[in-house]
Amino acid sequence: MNRFSAVVMTALVASLCFLDSARAANALETALVTCWSCHGAEGLPHDPTVPIIQGQQAKYLEKQLRDFREGDREDQIMSSMAESIPFKDLARAAELIAAKTWPARPVEGAPAAEPGVVATCKACHGDTLMGGPSPEGFAPRLSGQFAEYLDAQMGTFARGQRANQKSMTAMMKSLGADERSALAKYLAGL
Ligand code: HEC
Ligand code: HEC
Repeated sequence: MNRFSAVVMTALVASLCFLDSARAANALETALVTCWSCHGAEGLPHDPTVPIIQGQQAKYLEKQLRDFREGDREDQIMSSMAESIPFKDLARAAELIAAKTWPARPVEGAPAAEPGVVATCKACHGDTLMGGPSPEGFAPRLSGQFAEYLDAQMGTFARGQRANQKSMTAMMKSLGADERSALAKYLAGL
């Protein structure tokens, strides 16, 4: 092979690889269309018991999808949904979802006063409660999530039904149902 054809070959292989990964990303985007029927095409679910996932932390989303698949987090619908994504594509799917924009949501009423315990939450969920790496794994964004969903999840931690994060279980057990509801309302209003 002369130098010219070597250059052409290299360019050809590079563009084929690019096409290949673009096609794989497209296939994954197509697979995710099913998700938007519940999680909202523009990222805003119609049902406030379904969480906002567009714009959520990628590493957190990836862990949840694995946990649903492996039974470490239980939800019948979500377990089968997570299984619809091939294991090797979970991280990429999580990145695609995280790269979308967190939806704007009208907030009703005046902002609630910050419950004192929120200072503790910030140690892991970040100063602005937008999530990120924490001393105990990747913490999700809480600010602007639906109050109904947050309240329900805090309840499942408190009752030991969701047991995929030990500190969250301990902390939620230490709070009363009224305190958890107040927290959920506050966080949803951010
Ligand atoms: C039929 C409705 C429905 C469909 C379709 C659906 N989900 Fe869900 N999803 C839910 C519900 C309800 C929950 C809350 C589960 C719980 O209470 O633990 C959830 C939770 C999640 C969570 C956890 C979010 C968090 O903040 O912890 C992720 C991640 C997720 N879904 C991703 C997906 C993906 C990816 C798809 C598509 C492959 C999908 N979902 C399809 C209803 C749905
Ligand atoms: C020691 C670190 C830590 C502290 C402190 C902490 N969290 Fe968390 N929290 C996490 C991590 C990590 C997760 C993700 C768990 C998982 O992997 O499923 C989480 C998950 C959650 C979830 C589930 C969100 C979802 O989308 O399903 C809620 C709600 C939550 N935390 C609320 C709180 C509140 C409210 C406080 C303060 C009272 C708090 N957390 C304090 C680390 C912490």
